[in-house]
Amino acid sequence: SNKKLLILPGDGIGPEVMGEVHRVIGWMDKRRAVGFELEEGLVGGAAIDGEGAPVSDATVEKAMAADAVLLGAVGGPKWDDLPFQQKPERGLLRLRKDMALFANLRPALCFDALVEASSLKPEVVSGLDIMIVRELTGGVYFGEPRGIETLPDGTRRGINTQVYTTPEIHRVARVAFDLARKRQNRLCSVEKANVMESGVLWREEVTKLHAAEFSDVELSHMYADNCAMQLVRAPKQFDVIVTDNLFGDMLSDAAAMLTGSLGMLPSASLGDVDASGRRAALYEPVHGSAPDITGQGKANPLATLLSFAMMLRYSFDLGDDADLIEQAVQDVLAAGHRTGDIAVPGAAVVSTAQMGDALLAA
Ligand code: NAI
Ligand code: MG
Repeated sequence: SNKKLLILPGDGIGPEVMGEVHRVIGWMDKRRAVGFELEEGLVGGAAIDGEGAPVSDATVEKAMAADAVLLGAVGGPKWDDLPFQQKPERGLLRLRKDMALFANLRPALCFDALVEASSLKPEVVSGLDIMIVRELTGGVYFGEPRGIETLPDGTRRGINTQVYTTPEIHRVARVAFDLARKRQNRLCSVEKANVMESGVLWREEVTKLHAAEFSDVELSHMYADNCAMQLVRAPKQFDVIVTDNLFGDMLSDAAAMLTGSLGMLPSASLGDVDASGRRAALYEPVHGSAPDITGQGKANPLATLLSFAMMLRYSFDLGDDADLIEQAVQDVLAAGHRTGDIAVPGAAVVSTAQMGDALLAA
């Protein structure tokens, strides 16, 4: 049966980089019967302008019925002055919430040809391939009580609460254990059990789950502050990392910069498996809509193409096709093709479409 893919290009460079994905889908269609059923929709500023809200109910319904959603980016100066609830970013947040996407996968992959772009020494990052799994719908960003209070003496206090339940911990840990099995079979669970109750629970529950269902995976535990240090000192010691929303936010951004440019970084957000075995999933580049280079043909499409590859691997069980795209990315970089964001001084810079040409040729 045909797999349903919903494409939401969004704003700014979103439609530009998505154009290159369409070319790759066209290529796949010609070579063999992949059988995607493609739908396209609006999100972000484009949806505000076109449909009156940052994402319409109809688009949310399509997203929930699709086998996977591929999103470009949202936001831009045109919509910056709207009230918080009406901003383009709310479209993405609503999709994440309604699709219940609790596991955020952020690979940090070092492309050999870009090793010089890393902030670290080549020998520290060369060959780096780690996956950070961040819990995305719980923790301190959502816990109650929250708010700003004024005490009788006029002192104000800001309150957030870190809460994690056993099902929340188990479901994200399961995703991480499963990923580890498909990779180097090693999982590092990260929290601060030394100072946080939620961290104590996190460690206990991951340990229990490991014993019950995943004892073949090598499990270790690490405090989040040490993990930050280790990511910069010796990142290659990690395979898969699983951590909470707050620590994952920071550790995944830090890990991302081990490998160079925003224009290279894909991501996936996964939800639960439904009765028919389908897992809710949204794939997107880590970068935003890059208004400073929009409409100039300068955007690097590789982060979105790598997000598409993740989609083929995790949602459509097309690992070989994902490998093909990832290898083609390595090859075009090795051949010296560079968009502006990953350019080396003095070398020629290619456009978005020329990068797409090179990728298709590879
Ligand atoms: P940004 O990621 O859009 O851009 C940061 C810098 O990186 C810019 O100089 C940009 O030109 C460059 N850049 C980003 N992606 C690139 C690519 N593919 N190729 C070449 N260069 C690239 O972040 P910024 O500037 O903070 O935000 C711009 C807009 O995007 C804002 O409205 C923001 O809210 C939104 N945004 C949306 C996100 C999303 O849709 N998930 C994530 C981050 C920001
Ligand atoms: Mg962040």
